[in-house]
Amino acid sequence: MARRVSRRKEPERGRFQLKELEKVEGGIFDTRTMVYLGKFFNSGIVQRLEFPIARGKEADLYLADAGGSKAVSGSAYVVLKFFRVETSSFKNMIDYIVGDERFSRIRNSKYFIVNTWCKKEYGNLKIAEAAGVMVPKPYMANGSILAMEFIGSSEGRAAPMLKDTRVSNPNGMFDLIIGYVKSLYKFRLVHADLSEYNILVNEDKPYLIDFGQAVTIKHPNAQEFLERDIGNIARYFNKQYSLGIEEKEIFEKVTGYQKQ
Ligand SMILES: Nc1ncnc2c1ncn2[C@@H]1O[C@H](COP(=O)(O)OP(=O)(O)O)[C@@H](O)[C@H]1O
Ligand SMILES: [Mg+2]
Repeated sequence: MARRVSRRKEPERGRFQLKELEKVEGGIFDTRTMVYLGKFFNSGIVQRLEFPIARGKEADLYLADAGGSKAVSGSAYVVLKFFRVETSSFKNMIDYIVGDERFSRIRNSKYFIVNTWCKKEYGNLKIAEAAGVMVPKPYMANGSILAMEFIGSSEGRAAPMLKDTRVSNPNGMFDLIIGYVKSLYKFRLVHADLSEYNILVNEDKPYLIDFGQAVTIKHPNAQEFLERDIGNIARYFNKQYSLGIEEKEIFEKVTGYQKQ
């Protein structure tokens, strides 16, 4: 009996939240997005949306209250990443989907592309997690929405990007980040958009984020993407902390073979 009551109550609460959101956010949350969002409430991952934490290139990110959910161990918060359909760069997305053997069948619809992108980020985060890389733990992807671990303070303040922090041990931080790039490579993944913008620093530890574009090493441009990632990080640390890193050496360290 008790079970039946609680089962009926959860969706009710979710529906109420969604109705409120529709009123407050108006155009941002269209009907399709609201339907996707409902699943996050119903499955107990999210209890309420709090506030926007960032507007990225392709997505709007919101802090949500986990409400003691079992799916989310250890934190009161969850991040919801809403991929935008209207302003997304489909041409750019397609270049990182076609060529990745995991996505052989592509449909020519913007919803299909964005939803595939979202699912791809979820899958990539799972691989990174399995590789032992510090990333936000992925909880669920549905449609164009991804739920993941919140990286930040217990008061709900998001961790700053690497570019906005002064690192106390730059050599150690650089080695950790390159160690993560190597672990990803061992798990056949290249981030492909790594830079000081897509690394958060929480309690002096780096977290790699934004894995939508990450491709497997079989992608025809994987080596080029890996070189670009390493170049971005090496250049950043050389410029900010005068570390004098040789990009070529790092590439060899990551891949285990000499660059021609
Ligand atoms: N898990 C997270 N915890 C805290 N803040 C996050 C998290 N994921 C992303 N952010 C914040 O949102 C911003 C945009 O996220 P990102 O995944 O890089 O989206 P985009 O693809 O639009 O660049 C990040 O720069 C960061 O400030
Ligand atoms: Mg980003």
